Amino acid sequence: MPVIVLVGAQWGDEGKGKATDLLGDRLDYVVKFNGGNNAGHTVVIDGEKYALHLLPSGILSPGVVPVIGNGVVVDLNVLFQEIDGLEARGIDTSRLRISANAHVIASYNRTLDKVSERFLGARRIGTTGRGIGPTYADKMNRMGIRVQDLFDESILRQKVTAALAMKNQVLSKIYNRSAVKGEEVVQELLSYVDRLRPYVADTALELSQAIDEGKVVLCEAGQATLLDVDHGTYPFVTSSNATSGGACTGAGIPPTRIDRVVAVLKAFTTRVGEGPFPTELHDKFGDYLREVGHEYGTTTGRPRRIGWLDLVIGRYAQRINGVTDFAMTKLDNYDGLDEIPVCVAYEVNGVRYDEMPVNQTDFHHATPVYETLPGWKQDISGCRKFEELPQQAQDFVEFVEARLGARISIVGVGPGREAVIERHSVLGGV
Ligand code: GDP
Ligand code: IMO
Ligand code: MG
Repeated sequence: MPVIVLVGAQWGDEGKGKATDLLGDRLDYVVKFNGGNNAGHTVVIDGEKYALHLLPSGILSPGVVPVIGNGVVVDLNVLFQEIDGLEARGIDTSRLRISANAHVIASYNRTLDKVSERFLGARRIGTTGRGIGPTYADKMNRMGIRVQDLFDESILRQKVTAALAMKNQVLSKIYNRSAVKGEEVVQELLSYVDRLRPYVADTALELSQAIDEGKVVLCEAGQATLLDVDHGTYPFVTSSNATSGGACTGAGIPPTRIDRVVAVLKAFTTRVGEGPFPTELHDKFGDYLREVGHEYGTTTGRPRRIGWLDLVIGRYAQRINGVTDFAMTKLDNYDGLDEIPVCVAYEVNGVRYDEMPVNQTDFHHATPVYETLPGWKQDISGCRKFEELPQQAQDFVEFVEARLGARISIVGVGPGREAVIERHSVLGGV
């Protein structure tokens, strides 16, 4: 029975939450394996909108066990706010499992994220300010606080004291901020212990047993391929592995057990935060797509930067993630356009690049080479079969598919759960 990894192909906000929700009633487990509440997934069910940040999107499907894996960084205040918000709307969250090895975002790391961005000024990353980078840095520096540490008060106090011995120097001497009191951090974290206890588990073990029993497990990435700390547009990336390999380390599922990799690809490109973006639009088409697509950040409310579809990035995502199936979202946002340019290659200093340039400077200077396809100028949001799409829309999907190196199995034609065309089963018949 399949283990599926679902990733974003671009710079995030491709519609991963909706894709997970679409598969929800066929899944047993949905595992978030990287990132934290920097993510923002909007899922629309029967016209009702849900915005999820930390909880896996699978929490909205009644039969699914949602899991926060060891690779996630957890802001406990956000966790319980989100749980309370969903419970108030009648969503049962009691099945949630949280890895004992996941790291906790301490308040001083939120502070450090914000002050370091301010300090960088024009060279800032444009982070979400949620403390993600400093918390992963602590993990790698072996000075992080894990979920399990909250259940041993003495260990927790030792770890917080050790972390602050260094961080208070940084806060006061570099950033001119007042020092943080260790005991306040310890007491804040301890205040969550009783509520946290029932959710905490050896999630890698539970998932291994579930896979042995033939359960269907979907590992859902936060962020996306070009925000991956190793494979993205470094340093304008997040601080975790958002590509499919991250599912192995971040959920404790070995590569030999993964059957399929689904990448969600928006029919155009968006990005929030700083960093290079070859097909970025600064004209009426960018404004138009931002408005019809409601492209404003779910987490920070920032207007998203908009660009044409970039197939150099699409192919790169296929290669790095080992994509077996693409889910193309937001095809309906093109309904009003006469023609649609698609980037098929780059030109850098007179040289054509069909693959992603390895040198970041070249990527910064890449000029897109476009092929332009005709639009269809009609509402496709009611289409439920591929053959129901206007010929130009079918041709568009097939044009993209031919250049991606993997089939496009799902096509999104609207924000709702029902607004989708399934061309192939990504779960292998489940
Ligand atoms: P995620 O972070 O990858 O889960 O994506 P976000 O939720 O941040 O952004 C995707 C947005 O696109 C959400 O508002 C979705 O409701 C919306 N969406 C997803 N698929 C489609 C689609 O096929 N058509 C339209 N019009 N909207 C979609
Ligand atoms: P979902 O899961 C889009 C971006 C931030 C910033 C960079 C680093 O909704 O696709 P961080 O706070 O992670 O240190 O910020 O990454 N970023 C996202 N952009 N969608 C996301 O998540 C993002 N999560 C982080 O804007 O450029
Ligand atoms: Mg998002």
